[in-house]
Amino acid sequence: MSRIPLLAGNWKMHKTVREATALAQDLLEGMGAAFRDREVLICPPFTALGQVHAVIAHTPIQLGCQNVWWAGSGAYTGEVSPAMAKDVGCSYVIVGHSERRTLFGETDSSCHKKVRAILEWGMSPILCVGETLEERDAGQTRARVAAQLVAALKDQSQEDGKRIVVAYEPIWAIGTGKNDTPHEANQTCGYLREVLAGQFGDSVARAVRILYGGSVKPGNIDDFMAQSDIDGALVGGASLEAASFLRIIGHH
Ligand code: PGA
Repeated sequence: MSRIPLLAGNWKMHKTVREATALAQDLLEGMGAAFRDREVLICPPFTALGQVHAVIAHTPIQLGCQNVWWAGSGAYTGEVSPAMAKDVGCSYVIVGHSERRTLFGETDSSCHKKVRAILEWGMSPILCVGETLEERDAGQTRARVAAQLVAALKDQSQEDGKRIVVAYEPIWAIGTGKNDTPHEANQTCGYLREVLAGQFGDSVARAVRILYGGSVKPGNIDDFMAQSDIDGALVGGASLEAASFLRIIGHH
């Protein structure tokens, strides 16, 4: 089965509304009518979602957000619900990014609840998994990422399974300039696909897109995209400038 590549920009806590809409506009202009064979997604901060949506609605660029809480509404000061994300035009939500796990107490159990809620609201979760440098050095990469995947995706149906996107992001590679080698990243992504097959069966595992994230740049995107089990990229720093993200979107 051929999987449509997904190039996703995670803007993290960057960009005012004005900066965000300008970047969205620049991306649209730079993309033109090309790139029909790939999906492009941008994930601005919450404050800019509405206005960025106004710029990219009915264009090939899709909108996502970087987190949600799982309840529909209620007394959850400071949180945003899946319904609100959907309302403002999001079709994807990043779940369990390592920064959220490390800095904001995200756990496998909260990821599980969020994945469920995002699917129920008709959006696609981008579930992030990844190992620390210590875990990698101790030979625990596979065990770690498999445990994160299984915990967050347990009890999901096969139908829902197909709508999930997985992002393999070795924690030591995020924002450090040190990327995993494309070959090794591909091995881990291939292993994640085996774990998905164990949980959902072969046909779902073949349909799910697995992204690599961690210091993806214009200079290394072609090598990552040439790998058999890497179906796209989750890009932080290099998605903040139109020229570099356009180069990543336009990979060969
Ligand atoms: P980076 O971030 O591309 O800046 O390493 C990737 C991510 O956190 O998703």
